[in-house]
Amino acid sequence: MSKLCIQGGKRLSGDVVINGAKNAAVAILPATVLVDGISIIENLPDINDVGILKEAMTSLGAVTNFIDEHTLEIDASTVYQHVAKESCISKMRASYYLLGALLGRFGKAEVAMPGGCDFGGRPIDQHIKGFQALGAKIEVVDNVIRASADKLVGTRIYLDVVSVGATINIMLAAVLAEGTTVIENVAKEPHIVDVANFLNMMGANVKGAGTDVIRIKGVERLSGGRYSIVPDQIEAGTYMIAAAITGGDVNVRNIIPEHMESLSSKMREMGIQIIEGDDFIRVVAPEKLIATNVKTLPYPGFPTDLQPQMAILLTVAQGVSTLIEGVFENRFQYMEQLHQTGAKITVEGNKATIEGVEKLKAAHLTATDLRAGAAMVLVGLIAEGGETVVHNTRYIDRGYESIEDKLSALGADIYRKPAQ
Ligand code: UD1
Repeated sequence: MSKLCIQGGKRLSGDVVINGAKNAAVAILPATVLVDGISIIENLPDINDVGILKEAMTSLGAVTNFIDEHTLEIDASTVYQHVAKESCISKMRASYYLLGALLGRFGKAEVAMPGGCDFGGRPIDQHIKGFQALGAKIEVVDNVIRASADKLVGTRIYLDVVSVGATINIMLAAVLAEGTTVIENVAKEPHIVDVANFLNMMGANVKGAGTDVIRIKGVERLSGGRYSIVPDQIEAGTYMIAAAITGGDVNVRNIIPEHMESLSSKMREMGIQIIEGDDFIRVVAPEKLIATNVKTLPYPGFPTDLQPQMAILLTVAQGVSTLIEGVFENRFQYMEQLHQTGAKITVEGNKATIEGVEKLKAAHLTATDLRAGAAMVLVGLIAEGGETVVHNTRYIDRGYESIEDKLSALGADIYRKPAQ
C-alpha cells in the first residue's frame, strides 16, 4: 500500500486529459460476457477496478488481451462457466453486473455478494426484482447470489428506487431475453447511455437510455465489434474542483461538457469562470469563492460521487453553505477527520453545514472510500503548514488513473511513497 504526500499552496494551471468513465467500464466489461464474438473496448481507464474485472473475465473463460494501455480485446465466446465467487470480485460494487450478464447468457449465474464503498446499506432488491420479473429464481446462500431461469421472458418492470446498478443489470439480463422488456423509472446517468450504446453496437436493440423508460427487444445474439468508452464525468469534476480550489486556470480536456452541467452551474454560482468548448471545459478560479447550497440527486442532478470533492471546495468558500446527500444514507463519514484541518463542518443526518474558512491546515488523512479519497487529495492541494499525507490510496487507485502524475503536470507538489 502507498500514500500520497502533498505540499499545498501551488496554483494549478495547464491541461489535463480525462480518461474513460470508470462506472461505464465496470459495466461494459461484464457486458462483454453476452457477446458471442470479439469486443474491442477503447478508452478504458487504467485503474484497479478494470484490472480486477479483466481477471474475472479470464477466470470465466474469456480470452483477454491489451492491445495498448487503454484498449482491451475480449473474446467472450469461450466463456464456459457461470460462477464468479473470487474474493477480489466480492470487494467491488460492480461485480453485480456479472449476475445480469451471466444470467442473460447462460440462464444461470452464481456471483459473490457485491462489496464496494460503504455508504450505509446498499441493497440490491431492485436488481433482484427485475431478474425475478424476467423469470429468474433467486436465492442467496453463504453470501453468494444464485440466479437461474428456464428461460428469460421480456416484461414490464417498474423500479421503486432510481438505481444506476439495477437499471444496467436488468438491461444486461434482458438483451437476449425472449420478447420485449420495458424498464420504467430508470436512472439516466451518462454511463447508462454508454452501456446501452455498447450493447446496440454489438447488435442489441435497446431504446430510451437517458430517459425515464428503457425498452429492450430481445435479440438472438450479440456478435462483437469495437466500442470507445465515454469520458469520466466524475474524474473531470474532480479536476475542475482542483482547479477552482487552488486559484488555478485549468483546461479539463476530452470530456462531454453537457455531462458536467450540474457542477458547472454550481461552480458559476460560486464565482468561478467556466468556459465550455466542444470537448473541454476551462476553469478559471476567482479571487474569492462564494458559498452555495448543493443537494446530490440522480442524474441530471448533482452527482453523489462529487459530493466529497464539493464539500472541500465549500470549506474555503466565503459564507455558509449547505450540502445535502440525497442518494445514499450515510456518505459523510469522511467529514469527521476534516476537523483537524480547521474546516468548520456540522453534520446533522444527511445535511452538512459548512462555514467557510480562510485556509486549511496540513494533516494526516485517510481515504475512507474512492471519492472521499479524492477529496482528501484536494485538501492536500491547499493545506498550509507542512505536508499533507493521504493514507489508504488503494481506494483512490480504484478509480483515478495516475492521479499524482496528472496533478504534478498541472503544477501540484505531490508524490507517492510506499507506506511503511
Ligand atoms: C452507482 C455507482 C456509484 C454511484 C451511484 C449513484 C457504479 C459501479 N457505482 O452505484 O459510483 O455513487 O451509482 O450515482 O456505477 N438502492 C436500493 N435498492 C437497489 C439498488 C439501489 O434501495 O436495489 C438504493 C441505494 O441504496 C441508493 C440508491 O438506490 O440509496 C442509488 O443507488 P444506485 O444508483 O443503485 O447506486 P449503485 O449502482 O450502487
